Amino acid sequence: MSEKLNEKLKKCFESLSEKIDFNPHVAIVLGSGLGALADEIEQAYVVPYEEIEEFPRSTVQGHKGRFVFGYIGKTPVVIMQGRVHFYEGYSMDDVVLPVRLMRLMGAKVLLLTNASGSVNIDFEPGDFMLISDQIANFVPCPLIGENLDEFGPRFPDMSNIYDRDLRNMIRETANNLDIRLREGVYIQLSGPNYESPAEVRMCRLLGADVVGMSTCCEAIAANHAGFKICGISCVSNLGCGIIEQPLDHQEVMKKMQSVAPKFKELITNIVINIGAEGFYKK
Ligand code: HPA
Repeated sequence: MSEKLNEKLKKCFESLSEKIDFNPHVAIVLGSGLGALADEIEQAYVVPYEEIEEFPRSTVQGHKGRFVFGYIGKTPVVIMQGRVHFYEGYSMDDVVLPVRLMRLMGAKVLLLTNASGSVNIDFEPGDFMLISDQIANFVPCPLIGENLDEFGPRFPDMSNIYDRDLRNMIRETANNLDIRLREGVYIQLSGPNYESPAEVRMCRLLGADVVGMSTCCEAIAANHAGFKICGISCVSNLGCGIIEQPLDHQEVMKKMQSVAPKFKELITNIVINIGAEGFYKK
């Protein structure tokens, strides 16, 4: 991360701080088709990305592109309603800038969500998967370049990216709600094309359970910046080749919308428990 990037980040932070006075404990990134959750919380401030000086903007259908600050239960949260993706043409620095910005705002726990395709033949569309680990090597690492030591070390450890204690709590939360929760490895490919059947087989051979076009790079930058991280993936479809039918973005979005109420219940309870168990203090 270069000095130039650091300056950009500080500018975004100053621009945002002029508009709001809020200290989020938990940061949440909502994936494709899952944005409705942010409309239903007790909102304190809403800041569209375009109102933040130098902030990268999302161009994807189904992504709203704004920060929502507010409360879930008693927990102060910042929600990214729409993320920026590498396939949109942004640099990796820009893709992970929002995550670093939310860290600067004071958030300590990061909850990442996404839509994914399953490469695990036992999973079904509509399943939720707790991310236990990730494979990020098919996209450039967001930490390439000069390291800014105030953010994190040059060679950060990645042995516990998705925090073990958070995962235990999430498993228990889902169980109490009677929501079936799969668990497994998320692999990020660049997209924007969906995978070929051979690529789906490759992902499975490499040890992945689901494949998507986001999340891993954010998790690396967040881990570097000292966030405690957890992730929930919503399986919108089975990977190409597992089923014969061609993949279609509209169908993916439709599936995500159909699981949105259950997703909201799960996420709401996870965030309440993060607050109740004081994860951002640990
Ligand atoms: N592949 C990659 N990303 C995705 C998929 C998929 O099948 N479904 C939703 N996001």
